Parts: sequence; C-alpha cells; structure tokens
Amino acid sequence: MRRIYIWLIAIVTCMLSLLGFVAMNFSISAQPTPGRFETWLANRVKSWAIRQASARAHQPLPPAHIAAAVSRGRGLFNMECAFCHGHNGQKTSAIGYSMYPRVLTLDSPQVQNLSNREMYWVIENGIRLSGMPGFAKINNQSEIWELVLYAHSLGHTNQSMPIKK
Ligand code: HEC
Repeated sequence: MRRIYIWLIAIVTCMLSLLGFVAMNFSISAQPTPGRFETWLANRVKSWAIRQASARAHQPLPPAHIAAAVSRGRGLFNMECAFCHGHNGQKTSAIGYSMYPRVLTLDSPQVQNLSNREMYWVIENGIRLSGMPGFAKINNQSEIWELVLYAHSLGHTNQSMPIKK
C-alpha cells in the first residue's frame, strides 16, 4: 500500500514540475513564428469549425454578374483588407505578418480550399482569437459576396505559396 502512495507522489511531482516548466516558458508575445505543429493543429481545428458553422448559416444567393462583382470586390478588398492581407491579396503586409497567427495571402491553398459558403461565413463573422474581424456590420450581403468572388478569383491568377507554414 505504501508503495502506491510513493508512486502517486512521484507522478504528481513530475506532473507539477512539467506544468511549471511549460508555464515558465509560455510567452504571450506575438513575435515568435508559430511552430509547425501548432500551425497544423490550429488550421485543422479552424477548418473544422468554419465547415460546421457555415453549414448551418443562412446565406443569400450569389450575384448574377460575376465579372462586375469581382471588380467591385477588388476595390473593397484594397480598402478594407489589404491592410492585413496585402495589396491585391498577394503579399501579406508587415502588419499581417506581425500578427499571431500570421495572416495568409488570399491566393494560398488554405484560403482557396474554402468553399464560397465557407469564405462568405468567414468574412461575415470573422475568426475569434485570430485577429480576423467580422464584416457583417461594415459590409452588406452583396458586398460580402463581391469580396468572396474577388478572393476566389485570386486562386486562378496567382499561384505563389503562402507565407505561413
Ligand atoms: C486586422 C487584420 C485583418 C483584416 C483587416 C482582415 N483580415 Fe482576414 N484574416 C486575418 C487573420 C489574422 C486571419 C486568420 C489567419 C489564421 O488563422 O491563420 C484572417 C483570415 C481570413 C480568411 C480565412 C483564411 C484562413 O485562415 O483560413 C479569409 C478568407 C479572410 N481573412 C479574408 C479577409 C477579407 C476579405 C478581409 C476584408 C473584408 C479581411 N480578411 C480583413 C486578419 C485580417
């Protein structure tokens, strides 16, 4: 019986020491580049959460004139989003690259793999704890569609790799 107590005390001491070590090394600074495992895990959780939330959301139909919508979307994007995602969505800005997690370029596979429905949901609602704002109170539904169509148009024209990863 006494042996069990000794083992229990040893295990609890090890766990407390490990927790203390993790707590001492945890930093709230946004400066370090997020690690590969952390990025992989965060992206999996984020994709899953966006898929679940967008599947339940009620969304309006897309505009009929795609080319005109893409062109209006570019104007909106460079006014409201380029600050973080870079001019024409092609190279993350210095601000975007200083955020934690780092902001992705919109032509990156991670973003282009989002369906129209998922991307609409992201732009409308934002992503909690990441720095991505929700634009529901800034843009109306047609404007959000214009941003979605513009962002997806970048996947066809620019194949550069994402900065993050
Ligand atoms: C203040 C900075 C900021 C602004 C402004 C901003 N974003 Fe973001 N955006 C982010 C961050 C941070 C993320 C999340 C990055 C991550 O989790 O990997 C993000 C993620 C996204 C994603 C999802 C990509 C992913 O991570 O899967 C899309 C799509 C997106 N933004 C589009 C837009 C559009 C369109 C606008 C303008 C209407 C915009 N963003 C404005 C910071 C910003």
